[in-house]
Amino acid sequence: MLKAVILIGGPSKGTRFRPLSLDVPKPLFPVAGLPVIQHHIDACYRLGQHQYPNKSYSKNCSNNDGDKYRVAEVLLLGYYDEDELENFLLTTTLSYPSLRIRYLREPSALGTAGGLYYFRDTILEPLDNNEPIQAFFVMNGDVCADFPLDEILNMHFNYSNRSYHQQNQPVLVTVMATETTREQSVHYGCMVVDKETNVIQHYVEKPSTFVSTTVNCGVYLCSTRLFDTMADIHLEISNNNGSFNQLCTPISNKNQQKTTDQVAVVMWMEQDVLRKLAGQSRYGCSSSCDDRLSKIKTKTSMTCGLALAATTNNWWSQLKTAGAAIYANRHYLGLRQQNERFLHVKTLSEFALPSPIKLMTINPESCYSIIGHVYVHPTASVHPTALLGPNVSVGAGAYIDQGVRIKESIILQDAVIGQHSLVMHSIIGRCAKIGAWCRVEGSTTCSDPNPNVAFAKMTPQLPLFNALDGRLNPSITILGCSVNVESEIVLLNSIVLPYKTLTRSYKNEIIL
Ligand code: GDD
Ligand code: GTP
Repeated sequence: MLKAVILIGGPSKGTRFRPLSLDVPKPLFPVAGLPVIQHHIDACYRLGQHQYPNKSYSKNCSNNDGDKYRVAEVLLLGYYDEDELENFLLTTTLSYPSLRIRYLREPSALGTAGGLYYFRDTILEPLDNNEPIQAFFVMNGDVCADFPLDEILNMHFNYSNRSYHQQNQPVLVTVMATETTREQSVHYGCMVVDKETNVIQHYVEKPSTFVSTTVNCGVYLCSTRLFDTMADIHLEISNNNGSFNQLCTPISNKNQQKTTDQVAVVMWMEQDVLRKLAGQSRYGCSSSCDDRLSKIKTKTSMTCGLALAATTNNWWSQLKTAGAAIYANRHYLGLRQQNERFLHVKTLSEFALPSPIKLMTINPESCYSIIGHVYVHPTASVHPTALLGPNVSVGAGAYIDQGVRIKESIILQDAVIGQHSLVMHSIIGRCAKIGAWCRVEGSTTCSDPNPNVAFAKMTPQLPLFNALDGRLNPSITILGCSVNVESEIVLLNSIVLPYKTLTRSYKNEIIL
């Protein structure tokens, strides 16, 4: 049995996603009709459910193995108030009855590994059937991807059962990796990977100079024994801190060792854990794979295992800015469409399984026109003369009036788009209202990956303002919640903060 932990952070982070995250935590922002982290949950749910007939993991697994490698519990790990996640937990629990979904709240921001270590007992705890935990996924809540969980699983367990183990070097973590350009790589965790063994030999988090074009995607499969390594790191950090200035809430005071081990310490998966594991395998240099393996030796008595990189060409991106949400919306809509089509075919076969997701919800009687991938919530109303798409998501209770044209946009819950208005490359906030004959337009795909450069990713955030003229740099247009745009207004490349009423046109501005 597997578990998955999704790192969702807390309210102190994510300033770049404002104003969209002012009324909803970024992990719950809807992309392609689902909260961002529901896509993670969905990927976990699909794993081991025979949803991936063409991939190696399914082929190599017997049915029993499929069950053994099924994700049974998803733990959301962060430091939001419980009530911020209450509704989400309720609805996802109903949508995925075979998964147990819980929220674990850190006492304070403990970093990407501190919270994992703090809640290690809960992560390792077997569920009702007492099946032991084989391993657990850790997923950054702010990445969007076609998660190749089956491939990661395949690599992790195949290698674990092979020679590394014999060398007393168990695989403790397998990191989802991707290629980027040389210039962009430094914005991510960079890894030097042995091409034959996939062992991570060197890891640097956001290096100041070029290290490698292979980068960490923020998705990991961890062996349960990783907690032993974390225990060592925990001790080192605590000893280095001396004064325990990063420690909070001691759980036990029985003795020094116990206290050090059981208090919450800020620890990072990247800088602390991966770097430590990568340090062990720097000695592999022979041409043959087995030779390399045999040369991977324990460096110090503290060493305990290896980290592997599972490199993928699947779509992957971070969700840091609102522009990234439009990009992710496009890809997730495409993926959902594929899965639905696949599910439809599979309904007729022995692998049939119900999907918790339904993508197209067009009312056949008042069928409006669509181009490409479009998601419309069942409770939204769209006039039959409206034209939506490509890549449009319309949230619950939204109202799209006659003659409206929308493309490459996200319309959030209860928003209203008045007659004959046009919305392009924009995000329209919850309860925002756009009058008739308006034009709301963002800059086209300004931060999209350059299609002419191999492995290019989204441009990391441009500065908000142009240093020369003080104008807003090209971005999508964003209307915060409850913004009111009067009729016949043109709004180009602008960001409007919540509750504003616009009575004139704007271009390249932030309207406060
Ligand atoms: N629970 C919890 N507690 N989660 C946290 C904390 C914390 O203290 N700090 C960060 N997170 C969560 C964030 O919510 C986010 O989902 C994820 O951990 C990543 O944290 P960031 O600090 O935002 O890192 P990053 O996105 O700049 O870089 C990471 O992801 C890249 C891929 O997207 C690193 O892992 C990079 O190496 C990697 O390339
Ligand atoms: P920035 O540079 O400020 O964007 O920080 P960052 O890159 O470290 O933050 P990131 O984008 O990784 O977001 C971290 C986490 O903070 C997200 O996963 C969300 O859980 C959360 N978050 C982001 N924005 C907001 C917000 O406006 N309100 C709340 N409550 N949470 C947010």
